[in-house]
Amino acid sequence: MTNNTSRVQPADALVQSMRRRRFRVATLAAAFSLFALYVAWHEAHGPGMRHSDELPITQARADDAAQPAIAGATPTVASSDLVKRGEYLARAGDCVACHTADKARPFAGGLPINTPFGTIVTPNITPDPDTGIGQWSDADFLRAMHEGVGKSGERLYPAFPYAEYTKVTDQDVLAIRAYLNTLTPIHYAPPSNSLKFPFNQRWLMVFWNLFNFDEGRFVPDPKQSPELNRGAYLVQGLAHCEECHTPRNFMQGLKTSSRFSGAVQAGWHAYNITPDKNSGVGNWSDDELAAYLSTGAAPGRANAAGPMAEVVTDSTQYLTREDVGSIVTYLRSVPPINGGESRPRDQWGNPAVDDVTALRGTTINTVNGAQLFIANCATCHNWTGQGVGASAPGAYPSLIHNSAVGASDANNLAMVILHGVSRTTKQADVLMPAFATQLTDDQVAAITNYVTKQFGNPQSTVTVDQVATLRTQQ
Ligand code: HEC
Ligand code: HEC
Ligand code: HEC
Repeated sequence: MTNNTSRVQPADALVQSMRRRRFRVATLAAAFSLFALYVAWHEAHGPGMRHSDELPITQARADDAAQPAIAGATPTVASSDLVKRGEYLARAGDCVACHTADKARPFAGGLPINTPFGTIVTPNITPDPDTGIGQWSDADFLRAMHEGVGKSGERLYPAFPYAEYTKVTDQDVLAIRAYLNTLTPIHYAPPSNSLKFPFNQRWLMVFWNLFNFDEGRFVPDPKQSPELNRGAYLVQGLAHCEECHTPRNFMQGLKTSSRFSGAVQAGWHAYNITPDKNSGVGNWSDDELAAYLSTGAAPGRANAAGPMAEVVTDSTQYLTREDVGSIVTYLRSVPPINGGESRPRDQWGNPAVDDVTALRGTTINTVNGAQLFIANCATCHNWTGQGVGASAPGAYPSLIHNSAVGASDANNLAMVILHGVSRTTKQADVLMPAFATQLTDDQVAAITNYVTKQFGNPQSTVTVDQVATLRTQQ
């Protein structure tokens, strides 16, 4: 800021710069006092006043008339229905994805989430009384999900998607609680966060909330069909699609002016899924979108790898046909956002016709993308790039008309080569091996650039440095 302080300054310039500094300190102090006042006011009037404008918390219980307290009770038919509904909703909210670090300890937390401000480790949400949420009341749980406030009144970080979960009805939140209560308590205390000052100050989230958080339940639009409203409720709430698909502002809040228009996170590009014909998924049919969410594959369009493979594996494959249909109906209704693409991601590429013959008998000394492709990829994807098994579940997909290959950046393609694909659904266990240990950065870059040029969008390329960065992600 004051890049002239290292030089010798004339006296009046020095006085001026001191004045400027004093002014800055005074402004900061004033701002801080206002902040502090706001915090004090908010602590007094905010969370304490919660839920006074809502249905009483007991509403969900009323559904299961005469049902005893959930924890430890002999399950009645009604409560087992509630638990089943809670399990379904917990899947829709994909709680397990973030709250599991070790598959042997589901929901016990410990997963490090990297943010630009440091690492946040997910807590244990099993009913263990000491290390989990066994001692939480339903009101505590509702407050966490709806307001992002922890048991002792501390602010939670928005890496926990409470900005979306705030839309979920009390009834659904309490069903999730009822389900979590039936899990085996796991005694495990995850390691603590490593956030740098000032981000380790939880109270600062008050300001984040001020700009980036609207507390309140989903309000259906009476002008829209029940189906569209159901889809909006799921997408904006539990399914938290926007956490990945909506770009963020400098505070890491969602940029609500460009919802669903795509964002890059931890190396992966969660594409534009607005109905825009060229930049989004406007040219997909309803059935293709539904197939993608239920199985992770929409042949001739896209396959789900990386974080989206996890979403399908842990969450969307379990949704009913009706709920998937509602999500699709809602996605169709969001404003299309044009990102400047000249063609849809899935409308690029031609089969290779001459690369194998061209390479025959030649000795290649430099890193050669075509040669590396044939050596490492062609067994499954065919040297023509057309894949094997067409559109059968678990097929080796065609790289032609594939969104990761036709996208305007090659992030996901390089990530797929480095980290592979792993997705488990009712239809198939899908596995593409990771090449991170076999291939060097320049080899991965060469294959990536060959694949986009030959089978996809020739304008999207990666550099060796970019591959080196992508290698460390995930
Ligand atoms: C995208 C990742 C993510 C998902 C999905 C997620 N959580 Fe979390 N959750 C977190 C993180 C991170 C924290 C810790 C925030 C903090 O330390 O301030 C957290 C905290 C919590 C807490 C507070 C626990 C405590 O000890 O303070 C509860 C309760 C909770 N989550 C429940 C859920 C439920 C229920 C779901 C599914 C409906 C869910 N979470 C889905 C990331 C996630
Ligand atoms: C954890 C982050 C994350 C969440 C949550 C998420 N997505 Fe994705 N999504 C991605 C990524 C990353 C890709 C790209 C995957 C790839 O290229 O293999 C993607 C791809 C997609 C695609 C395919 C687009 C294309 O052209 O290839 C659709 C459709 C989609 N997501 C819909 C959704 C919906 C609907 C939800 C909510 C139910 C959702 N996503 C939630 C990260 C996410
Ligand atoms: C052992 C077989 C096998 C090999 C070898 C292999 N793949 Fe794959 N590939 C797969 C499978 C399986 C999938 C996932 C199919 C699905 O999602 O249904 C896949 C998916 C892909 C996708 C689509 C990912 C997405 O997000 O849409 C791309 C691109 C890809 N592979 C490129 C490559 C490249 C480049 C190589 C060589 C470095 C390679 N593959 C090597 C089996 C293989």
